[in-house]
Amino acid sequence: MIDGRSRRYLIETWGCQMNQHDTEKMAGILAGLGYVPTADDREADVILLNTCSIREKAESKVYGRLGRLRRLKMANPDLFIGVVGCVAQQVGQGIFSRAPFVNLVMGPRNLSRLGELIEEARREGRSIGLARDDDPIEFPFGTMARASGPKAFVTVMEGCNKSCTYCIVPFTRGREVYRPATEIMAEVTQLAQEGYREVEFLGQNVNAYHHEGSDLASLLRMADRIPGIRRVRFTTSHPGHLKRTIMDSFRDVPTVCNHLHLPAQSGSDRVLKAMNRGYTRSKYVSKLEFMRRSVPGMAFSTDLIVGFPGEGPRDFGETLQLMRDIEFDQVYAFAYSPRPGTEAARLEAIVPREAQQERLGELLSLQESIQTRRNRTLMGQVFEVLVDGVGRLDNGLLRGRTRCNRIVHFPGPAQRGVLIDVRITRAQPHSLLGEVLPNSRPA
Ligand code: 5AD
Ligand code: SF4
Repeated sequence: MIDGRSRRYLIETWGCQMNQHDTEKMAGILAGLGYVPTADDREADVILLNTCSIREKAESKVYGRLGRLRRLKMANPDLFIGVVGCVAQQVGQGIFSRAPFVNLVMGPRNLSRLGELIEEARREGRSIGLARDDDPIEFPFGTMARASGPKAFVTVMEGCNKSCTYCIVPFTRGREVYRPATEIMAEVTQLAQEGYREVEFLGQNVNAYHHEGSDLASLLRMADRIPGIRRVRFTTSHPGHLKRTIMDSFRDVPTVCNHLHLPAQSGSDRVLKAMNRGYTRSKYVSKLEFMRRSVPGMAFSTDLIVGFPGEGPRDFGETLQLMRDIEFDQVYAFAYSPRPGTEAARLEAIVPREAQQERLGELLSLQESIQTRRNRTLMGQVFEVLVDGVGRLDNGLLRGRTRCNRIVHFPGPAQRGVLIDVRITRAQPHSLLGEVLPNSRPA
């Protein structure tokens, strides 16, 4: 308490779902220490920047943000500023030289020490907590301040043992560490009792999960048996670890949703090799085709990188062709960005920025037309929708997701967390409009 009021914290989050979930963990730790959240940086006592370093742009945003925080700190010297997450891990001590007013630098593998490191930093002016490689990670059980339902993230593993030549994640998140299945299921059971209907298993290389005889397919089957859990998803997967048992779970395990995010990165075998992805285009395609044949309405999303060093117009053409062949339901596309310490950063055949942007534009417009066409075919169809709240647009519509991960907006009195049947009445490239079926009884 300060002056009779609780101390306030603000955590700003960049990056992937793992980072979002780390924020929930840190928020839980701070709540346990008596802090309350605030959205206003001027009234915060503690501000943590939970950072992402996947591309240079994500990293430079952090420095931009620190510029403003420096002014806040000048006005309020008691303000505690922490840089946490992937940039913190990557830059380490270097953060203090760029921004000497920062009190704490902490990597993503040290989350459970947050309280202790804040104490130490308050005592000594500043502190640093960095872990790499196989340091054990603790998952602060039951101490998370989760975003309210109906979906909850559940960490099943941390780190990544792959060595894709463009990627900084193995440097920031360390080697793979797996959580025991019993612990994971205890958390899922508790979430179900708290009313969550959907869980999403998280890991940088989630389908490589293995621990004492359990693999991801076993986790999916175990979660399916927990009363109250209606939907299970997992992210993010590597095509090389997509075993038959996992592919079969989409067909055989009722709660496993019919959507898979499977980053392809490129459609060119030459580029895939230079990226050290460990699969060919045809291996990737055959897995998707197998699932399309065995799982009704199976939806796929992917990540693609354009302008990787040495990517010629022909390689890029193969990526476009992959998109036409598969017709992904959603594509996240990125211009290649060299990251310090990675193998690809040493490659010389750089694709100029303008060519990267041109390719990115071409790719996105192709995807827009694919999505428009695909979504139109859904008109009139009925989907089970899990209501997750009010849409972002101020039009009074509710919003939910289908099992195939499409966003649907619809008018109606339904409440957050219920499952209802919705008929699609209008299709846009990135969202769908629908109406609740009159005889749809919320479940
Ligand atoms: N440059 C551009 N995109 C990258 N990604 C990972 N590393 C880089 C990089 N250096 C993309 C990949 C990954 C997604 C999370 O970010 O497509 O799947
Ligand atoms: Fe960004 Fe990767 Fe770290 Fe997630 S794990 S925050 S994507 S660098």
